[in-house]
Amino acid sequence: MELSVKNTPKTQVPFNKPYLTGREMEFVKEVLESGHLSGNGPFTKKCQQFFQERYGFRRAFLTASCTDALEMCALLCNLEPGDEVIMPSYTFVSTANAFALRGANIRFADSLPDDPNVDPESIRALISDKTKVIVVVHYAGIACPMEEILEIARANNLLVVEDAAQAIDSTYEGKPLGSLGDLSAFSFHETKNIQCGQGGLAVVNNSKLLTNAEFVWEKGTNRSQFMRGLVDKYSWVSLGSSYLPGESVAALLWAQLTEIDSIQKKRCHIWDRYSEGLGDLNVDTTKVSPKATRNGHLFHLVLESRRQADDFLDFMRSEGVKAASHYVSLHSSPYFAPKHDGRILPNADKFTERLIRLPLFPELKEEDLDRIIGLTRDFLTA
Ligand SMILES: Cc1ncc(COP(=O)(O)O)c(C=O)c1O
Repeated sequence: MELSVKNTPKTQVPFNKPYLTGREMEFVKEVLESGHLSGNGPFTKKCQQFFQERYGFRRAFLTASCTDALEMCALLCNLEPGDEVIMPSYTFVSTANAFALRGANIRFADSLPDDPNVDPESIRALISDKTKVIVVVHYAGIACPMEEILEIARANNLLVVEDAAQAIDSTYEGKPLGSLGDLSAFSFHETKNIQCGQGGLAVVNNSKLLTNAEFVWEKGTNRSQFMRGLVDKYSWVSLGSSYLPGESVAALLWAQLTEIDSIQKKRCHIWDRYSEGLGDLNVDTTKVSPKATRNGHLFHLVLESRRQADDFLDFMRSEGVKAASHYVSLHSSPYFAPKHDGRILPNADKFTERLIRLPLFPELKEEDLDRIIGLTRDFLTA
């Protein structure tokens, strides 16, 4: 495809720029001066309480990453050899790795035809006597069809884990994502809406898993009971690991949480501009079901072919704009392909080959946004 080269100056637009509120230094300094540098200090507690109050999570545990939070969730599912866990193939490696580390048999479900989120019918087809857990991933921070998925889980007595890595501040039928499953996991990596460089959150909504979650979070010990004066020594009581981040990370996160509404407003404004500026084109874009809300995490396009997606990335790069593809479906990954049951997952494959994300970060300038929308329209209508 030939596109005329424009003479406009080519400002470089990155794909992401981590947003800082300006209060990070103040809070990190407070930590350094306090002498409490390890985890589970005042900033950790403030962050956890914030999430519990704002989103109605039963208990929130700060972790060093969403990967860690998913590993906590997988441990809490208490899997036995031969147990099966169903999850979408179109996801980040951590979703699967956490459960593979526990020895689970992973069964990959396909995405919906016009949405990277998992197809409930594809989940239903994989249910067996051995299924123990359904993991959903709210792609782009937009809810999966949770009504159907929760119904499948209820009917088959399964646990539901939400990989809500991208989904902070979004809702489904008015309920915050992360509050619907038994367990859920969020990411605060620098590419996410709320970021502290690298961080995460494990959420426990199922009260039966709460006591064990405290043990797992604190390296498999009952240290939290010791701190509350319930036991006179703490010791090894379950499997666990060192999941909690140091206080300086929690301080960075707290700075972001003090400004969450304005961060969300900025991101959602950009998301809306993309949606309005590109929604009429003949390509699938990030869409929000009537039951869900968006959180302005990412905006994607699904191009006609892998070739067109590659050409689009090259074209944008030549114009100084960094767009990006996303996940390589896990059923066809080098690690898992030999273990996969051979089912073809056409929608996951399609998103692997053809899905492109546009730059989206709070400091994206209006003129750059106009230019990205204009360039995308030029490319797709040439
Ligand atoms: C769906 C999903 N789950 C988990 C993760 C892992 O997050 P983290 O980098 O915080 O470990 C990511 C990372 O982007 C992700 O997209």
